[in-house]
Amino acid sequence: MKIAIINGPNLNLLGVREPGIYGSRDFNSYLDGLRKLYPNVELSYFQSNCEGTIIDEIQNQGFKVDGIILNAGAYTHTSIAIADAIRAVKAPVVEVHISNVHAREDFRHVSMISSSCLGVIAGFGLNSYRLALEALIAPEN
Ligand code: DQA
Repeated sequence: MKIAIINGPNLNLLGVREPGIYGSRDFNSYLDGLRKLYPNVELSYFQSNCEGTIIDEIQNQGFKVDGIILNAGAYTHTSIAIADAIRAVKAPVVEVHISNVHAREDFRHVSMISSSCLGVIAGFGLNSYRLALEALIAPEN
């Protein structure tokens, strides 16, 4: 199985950025552990701070992989263009957030992309990615 993880803006700073909210582990070390836990899953990883580049990657992966795990960062709350890209591709997309966006500021309660996604996982720290992976590889998908 092939799964693509796509991270949006400021998620390159995981481990450094607001550790009280996002934790102090950098994403690459988490990803190494995830790859070891799921040796039969081919996991690709991409991060960009640019909306259009994220859309390019959704289009690029969306016809090649079996599923996409997407943390669109703050674009979650604003981007109709990312929602359109999710709807345009074949692969199911799981929206992921490290923090519980519903326990934070009001503007984070709104997602422009949720209705285009297979489902949403939020609030479990970096484990949100593993839970999304479990959802995508579950037999009923
Ligand atoms: C986030 C939540 C967003 O509101 C925020 O803008 C992020 C990270 C999360 O993973 O918790 O950049 O997507």
